[in-house]
Formats: sequence, structure tokens, C-alpha cells
Amino acid sequence: MNITVINGPNLNMLGMREANHYGTGTLAELQQELKSRHPHITFTFVQSNVEGVLVDLIQELSSNDSKVDGLIANFAAYTHTSVAIRDALAILDIPIIEVHLSNIHAREPFRHQSLTGGVADGIIAGFGFLSYELAVQAIGELCKPESGKA
Ligand code: DQA
Repeated sequence: MNITVINGPNLNMLGMREANHYGTGTLAELQQELKSRHPHITFTFVQSNVEGVLVDLIQELSSNDSKVDGLIANFAAYTHTSVAIRDALAILDIPIIEVHLSNIHAREPFRHQSLTGGVADGIIAGFGFLSYELAVQAIGELCKPESGKA
């Protein structure tokens, strides 16, 4: 199985940013943890601080040549603002799980709305690195033929 994991703005700063919300682990540690827990899965990890770059990455996944089975995405601040990312996601026909390290619903009101989550298969928020781990499990389930999604 091939899973792409997209991380949006400021997530390259994990380990150095607001540990009360995001913990102390780095993005490299998160990615390593996923790889070692799932040696049979091929992960492609991408991170960008630029909205248009994230749109381009999602468009690449919708090409016929793409061998990617599922997308795990934390669009970070763009979750709450980006119609462009939402529209790009709406073109994709693979399972999409939106993740957040923090529980966005327990934070400032402007974080309660997710524009991108409306076109995802599901949203997992508030579990730190475990949010990504749970998303891998969800994609595994959604890729089973009997799920009706595969
Ligand atoms: C975040 C939550 C967003 O509101 C915030 O802008 C982030 C990270 C999370 O993972 O908890 O950068 O997506």
C-alpha cells in the first residue's frame, strides 16, 4: 500500500512550536515512527508552507499515473481558510483522512471550522502523533474492497 502524508504550514517547526498544543516530537520523528510501525507500507512524506504548492501536490495525486492508495493530510492553518485546497481534494477519488495533532474544537473559535474536512472521508484530531497512526488504520480499512470505498 502507498500512502502520501501531506503536512502544511509550520509543521516543519514541530518540536520548536507551542509544545502545549503540538508536543515535543519533530516532524522527522513523526515520519520515522510511521515508517517503523508500518514497514510494509510505502509512505511519501511532503511538507510545504505554501498553499499553491499543496494544491499542486494534491493535483499530482489525482493523475492517472498516481499509484497512491490514500492520503493523510494535516493542512494546519490552511484547514481553516483554504477553498483552493478543498477544491483540489474534491477531485481526488482515493481515501482522504484529515488529521490534527491538537483538538481544534477545544481551541480558539477560528479553528473550529475545517473547510478541507468537508471533502475528507474522516477527521482525526487531538491525539498528537497518534492522530496520524489512527489515520493509517482508517486508510487500511477504507482500502479493503468490502468497505465500498476502494
Ligand atoms: C493543527 C491545528 C491548526 O489549527 C494549526 O494552525 C496548526 C496545526 C494541528 O495539527 O493541531 O498549525 O493543524
